[in-house]
Formats: sequence, structure tokens, C-alpha cells
Amino acid sequence: MRISVIGCGYLGAVHAAAMADLGHEVIAIDVDDAKIALLSAGKTPFYEPGLPEILTTSLASGRLSFTTDISLAKGSNVHFIAVGTPQSADSNAADMRFVNAAVTALIPHLSDSDLVVGKSTVPVGTAARLQEMIATSGSAAALAWNPEFLREGHAVTDTISPDRLVYGVAPGPRKDAAVSTLNAVYATAIAAETPVVVTDLATAELVKIAANSFLATKISFINAMSEITDAVGANITELADAIGYDNRIGRRFLNAGVGFGGGCLPKDIRAFVARAEELGRGESVAFLSEMDAINKRQRTRVANLVLGAAASVDVELTSARVAVLGLAFKPLSDDVRDSPALDVALKLNALGADVIAYDPEANGPARLRFPALVTAETLDEVLTGADVIVLVTEWPEFIALDPERVAGLVSHRAIVDARNVLDADRWRAAGFTFVGMGRP
Ligand SMILES: NC(=O)c1ccc[n+]([C@@H]2O[C@H](COP(=O)([O-])OP(=O)(O)OC[C@H]3O[C@@H](n4cnc5c(N)ncnc54)[C@H](O)[C@@H]3O)[C@@H](O)[C@H]2O)c1
Repeated sequence: MRISVIGCGYLGAVHAAAMADLGHEVIAIDVDDAKIALLSAGKTPFYEPGLPEILTTSLASGRLSFTTDISLAKGSNVHFIAVGTPQSADSNAADMRFVNAAVTALIPHLSDSDLVVGKSTVPVGTAARLQEMIATSGSAAALAWNPEFLREGHAVTDTISPDRLVYGVAPGPRKDAAVSTLNAVYATAIAAETPVVVTDLATAELVKIAANSFLATKISFINAMSEITDAVGANITELADAIGYDNRIGRRFLNAGVGFGGGCLPKDIRAFVARAEELGRGESVAFLSEMDAINKRQRTRVANLVLGAAASVDVELTSARVAVLGLAFKPLSDDVRDSPALDVALKLNALGADVIAYDPEANGPARLRFPALVTAETLDEVLTGADVIVLVTEWPEFIALDPERVAGLVSHRAIVDARNVLDADRWRAAGFTFVGMGRP
């Protein structure tokens, strides 16, 4: 099948390369010249494990090409919309300019038998509006919504072997054809018995936003609990283990820490609240604003824990060298959009600390946003001379640190584990003041 993918960011570039890897012929389109030049040369504009490999093989096979010329979408049977839907500059709502521009640019190149497939995360009602836009232009092309559930850091495997497929399709004579087309696109996953949910457009849009809202709620719930365990000297990790044995609750996403971030969860729950308010149903999801507030509070909480850790080794924060371990919003990614780690580094900077940060992949993206941020080239460099260490992104190499070796590098032995991933006993045995999030 010939497929076009419009938007070559974290979602679109992976989707395009993965579709080509699965045997489709793919034309991937973006308005960013620099990004297209990089991708055409087989270089990835961001860090994503496994992407360089499938990019290289797909380009070499001739099945994948990149362009800034939207007219080359003509002739594809399926057109995936994978452009960004960031938070608006002046409100919590999603900024729909990129989706609107992409569809407007695509319309003149559509044939009547084509299927436009939305992948971006959008406010409910967008798909119906875009279908109307296409119809009003005089094109008979159909539209479906196929939300994406990939996790950065695992995007390639999540795209090739998704845990479920959701097709939002409008009722009517084109419905069966749209489902057949999507089944052909995802033939490999379907052969592997991936569950497929076929539903209406609005439900498909809502599935994505409901899933992200649920995950955000789980994370903020355990973080709220950890504020209470902190107050009474209880242990949030043991609490999470104990409640997690209940199958109705489950243990995943119950790790207390500095909270969620990235280009999806924070802006998605805010956009959901904004959309629900437009629909007159604001109170139904008002709890999500509380989840957002709990989440933001963790970043200030971690900065305060660093302040306390500095005091415990008799260092004023204003003269403390603070080693920040991590800048990406999660390990195995270089994405610093709404990153808790970057936020903590900036907060500590603002409090007057001498901050030096290190991330195996996200130093560059972080400095691009905040050129004044001081970063170290290596893990040893960031640790050398530190008065306080704060682990904010749980990269495996941070978890594997040997406290005895670190003790030989730092000026003072104090560490804040803002992800609750370190062995407190080992660090204390090496002479460190050890501070976790809601655990002794
Ligand atoms: N990143 C994820 O993990 C993830 C997961 C699931 C869903 N999503 C959703 O997917 C969408 C894209 O997210 P992302 O993280 O890839 O964003 P991104 O910012 O990394 O990429 C968006 C891309 O779209 C391009 N673009 C903007 N306007 C365009 C236009 N008119 N024509 C062609 N290209 C255009 C941009 O240049 C950019 O390369 C969002 O709605 C997001 O919520 C993202």
C-alpha cells in the first residue's frame, strides 16, 4: 500500500519508518526543511532506540522517502496526520493550527477513494470537523481516527507491535472500506492477534485522552499518597507494593516521584479540561486540574528536598553545587518538553544553586531551550565536586551508580532520589544523607 505520513516528529517519523519496515511504500512529509534533510540522510532528529536501524533499512529499500512537498502525497491510498497539537500559548486548550494547516494543504491532492487517518491527539469533535472540511472542499475522501499509544523510548516496538488498534470511523457507506483499508495497513499486527476496537470518531478521539487522563491520575494519586507518607514517616514504596497486589488496582504507574511530563500527558489533560468546559461538562473532568496541580507540586517538593539535603551537610543552597542527574522527561528519550527534570534544574538555578546537569541524550535539547543551563559531558564530570546530587530521570546508568565510587568524587555526601529507584541502605552505608520521596 502507498501511504503518506504528514508530520515527522516523535510520532510521525517513527510511524513512517515503521510502516516502510512493514513493507508499505511511504512518503513522509514535514514543513521543517532541516528535519527532512536529516531524515533523508538517514539521521534521526531525536533519540529513539531502534529508529536509526529501521530508518536506514527502509531508506535503502527505496520504500521510504522524505519531502517538504505535500503534493507528493498524491497517489497514496492512506494519509496519516501526525502533526503536533501542543498547548496553546494563551490557554490550556490544544493549538489546532498545525492539524488544520496540514489537512488544508493535503485536500487539493486527495483522490475520492483516499482515506485520511488522524493519529494526532485532538480535542473530541475534531475528526467530525475535519471530515466536514474535506467534504466542503468537494473531495469525497473519507476520514478515520486512529489514535496512537506509542511510548517514547519504546516507540518502534509499540508501533510495529501495538497492544491494541483503535479505528474511529463514521457510519455510512464508506465505513467498511475504511476498516478494510486500516486492516491492510496493520495486517502484520492483526495477524499477530492484536485486538482491534472499531468505534465512532468521537469515541476514538476520547479513547486516547481517557487513557492519558487515567495514567496521569494514577501517577498523581501515588504522589499525593507519598506526601502523606512523608508527613508520618511511612513508606510509599511498600504501600504501592501492597495495594498493587490487588488485581483491581495493579502495581504499574504507582511509582512515587517527581511526576509526569513530556509532550503528551500534561498538555493532554489540560486540553481535555478545556474541551470539556466548552462542552458544558467541565465538572466531569475538573479532577484532572487537581492531578495537574499535584504533579506540578512535586517539582517544587523536590527542589525543597534538595534544599534540606544541602542543609544536612551544612551547605547553603546559594553556595551549593547541585548535580542534576537527568534532563529528559523519561529515560530512553531526549524529549525535554515539560520535563520535570529540566524544571527542577531551573528551579534550583532560580534559588541560587550552582547547578550542573547531565543527561545521556538530552543535554543538547535542554540547552537549546535554556542556553544558560550548564551541562556536563559525562556522569563523572557532573558528580565531581557536587555538594548535593539529585536524581530526576531514572536512566539505568544512574540507578547502577556505585555509592562508594561516587563518595570519592563528590565534595559532600547528600543525595535526593526523586524517582525512588536507588537502594537507600547502600547509599547511607557509604555515608550519604539519603532523601527519597515519601519513604524513609
Ligand atoms: N510523542 C509521543 O509520544 C506521542 C504519542 C502519542 C500521540 N502523540 C501525539 O502525536 C502528535 C504529534 O506529536 P509529536 O510528539 O510527534 O510532536 P512533534 O512536535 O515531535 O512533531 C510534530 C511535527 O509536525 C510537523 N508539522 C507541523 N505542521 C505541519 C504541517 N502543516 N505539515 C507537515 N508537518 C507539520 C512539525 O514540523 C513537527 O516535525 C501530537 O498530537 C501528540 O499528542 C505523541
